[in-house]
Amino acid sequence: MTGKDHIGEIGKLLGSGKTFGVSLSYLVQDRPGGIAEAVALSEPFIHSKERIVVALGDNLFSDSLTGYIKNYERQKSGAKILLHKVEDPGRYGVAELRNDKVIRIVEKPKHPKSPNAVTGIYMYDHSVFDMIKRIRPSPRGEWEISDVNNMYISQNLMTYDYLKGWWLDTGTFASYQKANQLLQNATLNI
Ligand code: G1P
Repeated sequence: MTGKDHIGEIGKLLGSGKTFGVSLSYLVQDRPGGIAEAVALSEPFIHSKERIVVALGDNLFSDSLTGYIKNYERQKSGAKILLHKVEDPGRYGVAELRNDKVIRIVEKPKHPKSPNAVTGIYMYDHSVFDMIKRIRPSPRGEWEISDVNNMYISQNLMTYDYLKGWWLDTGTFASYQKANQLLQNATLNI
């Protein structure tokens, strides 16, 4: 899934997927309608009992997702989010925890109640598509993924893991610069 502005670059970078041993299909989200809208657009591609992993393209992280996905597979149904402790949680969806459970996610709170940013890596069962149909756009005009996650929480169907290593949402120039540094070092370490 990509917006109109980046379809060219994404196609150029990933191509058919052959280099990575996979077959890729692309969908275009014509307007910035939010992450939940983007997930809804993928419904025709997902078989009726299949689960999905959603990873936002502007999120960069050092750890592999395999272990977290295996944890999710052990879960019978529902969803899983990955959290990461940050110094500026107000930029993100923020998860409030109690007794090792997520009790609420607040999108970009003015006064965050925890340092736990919700990363842009989400795992959902097929009921996500029904849940998205039940939400309405937020004041910023987007179908918010946090509203969907809060629905799973209210049904006691949400789990979380902490995403280890480093994680960045490259939504600011500072984080973009940081990402460049980290990736440069990562390449040198190989
Ligand atoms: C989105 C989500 C937010 C999440 C963030 C992670 O924010 O709405 O909950 O913490 O991605 O990157 P946005 O990029 O739309 O500001």
